[in-house]
Amino acid sequence: MIRNLKVFGLRNLVEAELGGLGRINVLHGENGAGKTSFLEAINILSVVKTFRTSKNASLISNGMDFCSVSGVLSPVSGRPRETVLGVKRKRSGGLVIKLGGRVLSSVTDLLGMIPVQVMNADSFQLLSGDPGIRRRYLDWGVFHVEQGFFPAWRQFQRCLKQRNSLLKSDTIPTSELDTWTEELAGLGEAVSAYRHAYFLRLAQYFSDVLSRIAPDITGLEADFFPGWDRGVNLIDALMECRNSDISRGFTQVGPQRADLKLTWEGRPVSDTLSRGQQKLVVCSLKLAQGCLQVDSFPGEAVYLIDDLPSELDPSNLAMICHFLSDLDGQVFITSVLPHTLQQAFPDKVPLTMFHVEQGRAASSSDTIN
Ligand SMILES: Nc1ncnc2c1ncn2[C@@H]1O[C@H](COP(=O)(O)OP(=O)(O)O)[C@@H](O)[C@H]1O
Ligand SMILES: [Mg+2]
Repeated sequence: MIRNLKVFGLRNLVEAELGGLGRINVLHGENGAGKTSFLEAINILSVVKTFRTSKNASLISNGMDFCSVSGVLSPVSGRPRETVLGVKRKRSGGLVIKLGGRVLSSVTDLLGMIPVQVMNADSFQLLSGDPGIRRRYLDWGVFHVEQGFFPAWRQFQRCLKQRNSLLKSDTIPTSELDTWTEELAGLGEAVSAYRHAYFLRLAQYFSDVLSRIAPDITGLEADFFPGWDRGVNLIDALMECRNSDISRGFTQVGPQRADLKLTWEGRPVSDTLSRGQQKLVVCSLKLAQGCLQVDSFPGEAVYLIDDLPSELDPSNLAMICHFLSDLDGQVFITSVLPHTLQQAFPDKVPLTMFHVEQGRAASSSDTIN
């Protein structure tokens, strides 16, 4: 759990702090106050990057050369004392990550320390965006629970690149193409097996969460598409497309085409459900992934929920707040409507409230309710 957060030079958070963080933290304040920027700061502590797409350029406060985020992390197994984790990003592109005063040599060492799930307006892309977005969502989960996945995935990507560059060349030696095809089929089956096993577990969590936060949405189906015809082995699918791959110059079937299909009464969720219902589906996907990860690896999950009440009716908002109250993890919620949120949480659930104003946060009466 993050106990304390200090932010320097990030958007309008020139020098700001969130002290005495609890399990469920609510950041409220007017538009442009800096609420989302605090969530971005936590995301940077988790993965170095912001979640706001293509806005990395304006991340550092105007007039500053760097931004930095540091968090005091509570003890966990393997790290018996409170530890300070810090990430500093320079305008020049430089990056420094420190854990307990020691500089980490690579971003990979940071990943997994604070596994973050972000729920914001961009998350709707999970339903309406291209399959690549859903593959990244799925792969994030597999990566965090299956240690063998990342090396297999990386080998597969390298092999795919080789095969594709061969397909683009003017003369293609048949034996070389066959060698790459066989290798790709083996690696692709391995990657896909990891994804499929993860999907089966995730689907169970997803349906449990959805039934709790949106019991009215019934008949929703989640299905994993591996990227080729399920009835055949990948090697056969690749061989069948071989000539067409040669004429098109790239590999048309395989895990690089995988998708997570969400349908309601046989049609895509993004075409059929209302915006509010879609938000509940997206939140269920993210919450399910966080719960599965915590059950697989004891530790913390952090949920960043930007503008939770928007698009939700009072009854659905209350259901999601009840779910968050029982959740194993730390939650950060932003809203312009603090009272709506307070009413939606069950009585006696302590909420740590912060009023954010012009880039600063003040504890706005701890543990209301
Ligand atoms: N690079 C920057 N330097 C200074 N201020 C910035 C920078 N980028 C964005 N801002 C400002 O930071 C403020 C915080 O925005 P945001 O965190 O999205 O507010 P909220 O979520 O509370 O509505 C906005 O008013 C925005 O104009
Ligand atoms: Mg905002």
